Amino acid sequence: MRKPIIAGNWKMNMTASHAVFFLQFLEEELRYIGEDVEVVVCPPFTDLRSAATVIEADNFNIGLGAQDMYWEEKGAFTGEISPLMLNDLRVSYVIIGHSERRNFFGETNVTVNKKVKAAIAHHLKPIICVGESLDEHNRGETLDIAQTQLVEGLKGVAIKKADDLVVAYEPIWAIGTGRNATPAEANDAARHIRTVLGSIFSSDLAGKIRIQYGGSVNPDNISAIMKESDIDGALVGGASLDVADFTRIIKYNK
Ligand code: 13P
Repeated sequence: MRKPIIAGNWKMNMTASHAVFFLQFLEEELRYIGEDVEVVVCPPFTDLRSAATVIEADNFNIGLGAQDMYWEEKGAFTGEISPLMLNDLRVSYVIIGHSERRNFFGETNVTVNKKVKAAIAHHLKPIICVGESLDEHNRGETLDIAQTQLVEGLKGVAIKKADDLVVAYEPIWAIGTGRNATPAEANDAARHIRTVLGSIFSSDLAGKIRIQYGGSVNPDNISAIMKESDIDGALVGGASLDVADFTRIIKYNK
């Protein structure tokens, strides 16, 4: 009942012309897969205009997401991108609170919360990232960290329907390391995340919210991850930069 969602987080990779080329190839590969998986790409801000243009002009069945945004609509915030600017580019998703933003750029649960609220107010669907560091993992704090990040990140957030947000469980020790969480570990975290979402919203809504796993997802490990009961998709970094690999991930059940 939860439609799987596979999203590519390109991080700081690919120029605008590269993005257009990539999307044309990807669409060609996906032409016959039908509607059973939702596909989203999250390019850098500078690629969004070109990506939106090619997606719209050729009617591609690929959703567009941004990798971050600021919570104010406009003003003296040098270097920032507002939700109105993303609306103007027909972006539908926005990644919020990625661990790289938290670790390298000072993102906190408080700023995540402001961004999530602003995204929802502007009809952008946040993909909220949570996940523990290696030290936290080794101390057995996995579930506590995800819970705190969600409770604080979603404080005062109201959603009308489950489709309004996606949660990505991304253990930091698995990102870009080639060491993914086992499907069972990822599912334990996802199940706990769903319980926490149930206490924040309602268990009915939580049962419908999609939870992704992210961290060294590749064409060889995706099927086992997707078989888990509480995992509804993947947020893919490195392997989303290669059309062939990303296509194999999207076609995980073919
Ligand atoms: P990798 O797939 O490269 O490990 O990155 C995961 C990630 O951070 C997606 O947001």
